[in-house]
Amino acid sequence: MASSTIPMIGLILCSQRKPRVCPQIADYVFNILNNDSSQTGQKAARVKIRKIDLATWNLPMMDEPLNPSKITHFSQYLHQHTQNWSQEISKYSGFVLVTPQYNRGYPASIKNALDYLAHEWKGKPAMVVSYGGRGAGRKAAIQLKDVLLSLGMVPIETMPGLPIPSVSSDAMAKGSRGEDIGLSEHRDVWKEEEKEILKSFDDLVYLLSGRTSVVL
Ligand SMILES: Cc1cc2nc3c(=O)[nH]c(=O)nc-3n(C[C@H](O)[C@H](O)[C@H](O)COP(=O)(O)O)c2cc1C
Repeated sequence: MASSTIPMIGLILCSQRKPRVCPQIADYVFNILNNDSSQTGQKAARVKIRKIDLATWNLPMMDEPLNPSKITHFSQYLHQHTQNWSQEISKYSGFVLVTPQYNRGYPASIKNALDYLAHEWKGKPAMVVSYGGRGAGRKAAIQLKDVLLSLGMVPIETMPGLPIPSVSSDAMAKGSRGEDIGLSEHRDVWKEEEKEILKSFDDLVYLLSGRTSVVL
């Protein structure tokens, strides 16, 4: 059993395509949460945010013989990749899910990563930041929220959506190819969405009060 006094928040990159725009959007969100000088920023200083890239984990399609809800210790998972994933997720007290929208839903990669585990997610707050075309991936966020509830997680009500076409007329095409969409030059393009990201994070940090990470 290990514990830490500073809560750790895992910022999950939910797309594992290669190439993809997800790392640029995740960096944008990560920088807002870490560099903000408002009250929320001070809260960010009291938590540690680490990125969890599903492309790096590259989990196979869920291949465990047992329903994860029956697992009480990570060693009961059959596969080493599941044991590693369990230990990774157990480190975090809450999550920021940065997700694209695929065909009006969330990508299979995040569903797969969620389905592998159960107790490791349970009771933990999670905020969802979606991105996409003009709809900003909101349909994906709404569906994902339902899955998080089913896992016993606490989804944050405010779910910011980032419309990539607002950055520039060719940002969607560039992002899909993994090319720089120019977020550093267009930092003001999502000013309203930035406020929502901070509000959502504020609520997430509030829910973390008194919570520390517990390893299964
Ligand atoms: C399989 C697939 C389905 C997509 N479906 C949608 C969609 O329903 N709505 C949307 O706004 N964009 C859609 N897009 C465009 C994505 O928003 C865009 O490709 C974005 O770059 C995907 O994020 P990623 O590059 O991080 O994977 C889709 C892209 C892919 C690859």
